[in-house]
Amino acid sequence: MPQIIVLPHPELCPQGKVLQADAGTVLIEVLLDHEVDIEHACEKSCACTTCHVVIREGFASLAAADDLEEDMLDKAWGLEPNSRLSCQAVVADRDLVVEIPKYTINMTKEGHR
Ligand code: FES
Repeated sequence: MPQIIVLPHPELCPQGKVLQADAGTVLIEVLLDHEVDIEHACEKSCACTTCHVVIREGFASLAAADDLEEDMLDKAWGLEPNSRLSCQAVVADRDLVVEIPKYTINMTKEGHR
């Protein structure tokens, strides 16, 4: 069973977490099921980018993002080469190290910097 290591995030997961996930589970569901309350403003329909994460390890094990996800990711705050939308990324059979960026586009709109 793959392990999902969530790096510390000041609000969502201050200590970081190590989670167990079934292969085939959408990453955001693993996070939400374990009380890592990541934003998901569009209700996981690939239309908002608030669920953006950076996959620090295990990125290559994930199925590639489709065009819609790539287009949305371009709008994400703090985009990196290993960025994914956690509502679209499906856990495969490898462990992942996941970083939740400090901000989302929602927060920057609200003036948090
Ligand atoms: S929850 Fe909106 S893009 Fe993932």
